[in-house]
Amino acid sequence: MGAPRPSADSIRPTAVRKVALVTGAARGIGAAITGELHRRGLRVALLDQDDTGAQALAKTLDPDGDSAMALHADVSDPEGTQRAVQAVSSTWNSPDVLVNNAARTAPGSVWDVDLDEWDTLMATNLRSVLVLTRLCAPAMRERGWGRVINVASLAGQQGGLVAGPHFAAAKAGVLVPTKVFAQELAAYGITVNAVAPAAVQTPVMDDLPAEALQRATDRIPVGRFGRPEEVAALV
Ligand SMILES: NC(=O)c1ccc[n+]([C@@H]2O[C@H](COP(=O)([O-])OP(=O)(O)OC[C@H]3O[C@@H](n4cnc5c(N)ncnc54)[C@H](O)[C@@H]3O)[C@@H](O)[C@H]2O)c1
Repeated sequence: MGAPRPSADSIRPTAVRKVALVTGAARGIGAAITGELHRRGLRVALLDQDDTGAQALAKTLDPDGDSAMALHADVSDPEGTQRAVQAVSSTWNSPDVLVNNAARTAPGSVWDVDLDEWDTLMATNLRSVLVLTRLCAPAMRERGWGRVINVASLAGQQGGLVAGPHFAAAKAGVLVPTKVFAQELAAYGITVNAVAPAAVQTPVMDDLPAEALQRATDRIPVGRFGRPEEVAALV
């Protein structure tokens, strides 16, 4: 009689826990997405310029820090963003899932939006999608699996109810790299999709005038704003 044969379970490679990087994860929709992915068993990296908020949420999700970490970065800064991606990659693994959610909601009209403000907002809300996908996709491609989800907005299709034309233009823009990356990466097991929420009740709404919020609510057929958890479930 030889040595006992290993059981099927003992020879099955230990499943590696997938890593998700969510930008703008400290609050609102990003926080809900992060919570949902963590609940589903992924390790989550919470990238946000609000370090205090991201640290607090990461601690709530996992006080030991084994499955949730905060990364302090501004997505409009490519070098800082690269350092954040390197930090998660060297601690756990390069992200398997990337959620480009961080964005700034800004008011304004086509007549008065400041040109520098236009450029700054584009760097945050649109260019960051390119920067982060370029940083994360090569490792996904090597692994033959990856998921990229970009958070667009109905404002990108209809103009903003409460946000300005630069916000709407950036969100319309997000849909194009989503399609281009999806075509480039599909053959490597990577899907790239966008979700486009309408009005969702998040802290960003607290800064908006009550009458603009009422106008927005009046135009919603179900008569209420969406909830961050509803967007998270979709992602
Ligand atoms: N709330 C809505 O009604 C609504 C509707 C459509 C689309 N969206 C989109 O959903 C996403 C989340 O929206 P929200 O309402 O939760 O916003 P929010 O303002 O409540 O949260 C945004 C988060 O992103 C972070 N952030 C902003 N700029 C950043 C930067 N440069 N670098 C790193 N982090 C940054 C903020 O610190 C914050 O934690 C955004 O892309 C937004 O445009 C929201």
